[in-house]
Amino acid sequence: MVRSKIISTGSYLPEKILTNSDLEKMVDTTDDWITERTGIKERRIASNDQAASDLAYEASKLALDRASLKGEDIELIITATVTGDMPFPSTACILQHKIGAKNAAAFDINAACSGFLYGLYIADSFIKSGMHKRILVIGTEVLSKITDWEDRTTCVLFGDGAGAVILEPTEEERGIISININSDGSLWELLHIPGGGSRNPVSRDTVDRRLHYIKMKGNETFKFAVRTLEDIVVKILEDNKLNPAQLSLLIPHQANLRIIQATAERIGLPMNRVLVNLYKYGNTSAASIPIALDEAFMTGKIKDGDYILLEAFGGGLTWASALIRW
Ligand code: UT7
Repeated sequence: MVRSKIISTGSYLPEKILTNSDLEKMVDTTDDWITERTGIKERRIASNDQAASDLAYEASKLALDRASLKGEDIELIITATVTGDMPFPSTACILQHKIGAKNAAAFDINAACSGFLYGLYIADSFIKSGMHKRILVIGTEVLSKITDWEDRTTCVLFGDGAGAVILEPTEEERGIISININSDGSLWELLHIPGGGSRNPVSRDTVDRRLHYIKMKGNETFKFAVRTLEDIVVKILEDNKLNPAQLSLLIPHQANLRIIQATAERIGLPMNRVLVNLYKYGNTSAASIPIALDEAFMTGKIKDGDYILLEAFGGGLTWASALIRW
């Protein structure tokens, strides 16, 4: 049986750090509130001239170098982002040019914070079907440019970054064992950007009304996230007849420490087997899981044969989970 396996990872975080005390000077908030309610202490902010493809380039280059591959060795590029360089062409095409992946097809997907796992799902299907043999999947976000820096309910949450993985087929008992994606469009209003698309095209009015920034019903999203993520981690383990004790590491989407703790508690997983890095990067949407995965791999938290579980939740609403044997 053919499975897809991650053969390399890479990530990139912009240099500039914005701390909670910096935010105290910008909006009516406190370090205590942000730390208690979210677990976030600081986040990275891209420079004015950095767009999503620039961050994606750095992460992808690292993943390629670590696998001793060149851009031209890649057959397909899937980029998950809600902050693409421009409405079109896709950020994947711009990245394709930057890394010299002249033999690749390239496209973007939009599944907000679940985007990377959606990308992994698509890549996994292509590899299993034999359509493609080497796929680059990236999550890249410059959320600082769609964040309303006057809205304290959202601006304390987000950060910028990118993560990349390269997938190849394997006939070994490893790689992506199981992967699920889900959505419920009836809840789209919980997390969205109202302006700038064909519903409310950019105009002086949409800009004056700040419609080009993220709007979120935080508390409703929080409750739905906790319920849903608890259910999907239990389900994917049961479906694969895996005991939580066999799990080496849970790598959750990094939105809120309380959501992560609730999910881990539900399957009885101690927090030392959960990758948490949101205290330094905030919520980087589609980039959060590949950044965390790269950190886990590079710091020796994942070893050959380990079972790891990835899960994400975000705008759409969308949610997803993946069980991987490293
Ligand atoms: O990644 C995609 C999915 N997104 C998420 O998963 C985010 C999910 N939501 C959350 O993480 C949480 O809902 C938040 C962190 C956004 C908010 O935490 P909460 O415990 O749900 O707080 P809340 O929205 O119920 O607000 C509680 C209070 C409110 O004041 P009142 O009405 O009780 O007087 C807010 O106005 O906290 C106030 N508040 C703040 N206070 C200080 C909201 N934002 C801030 C702030 N600083 N930055």
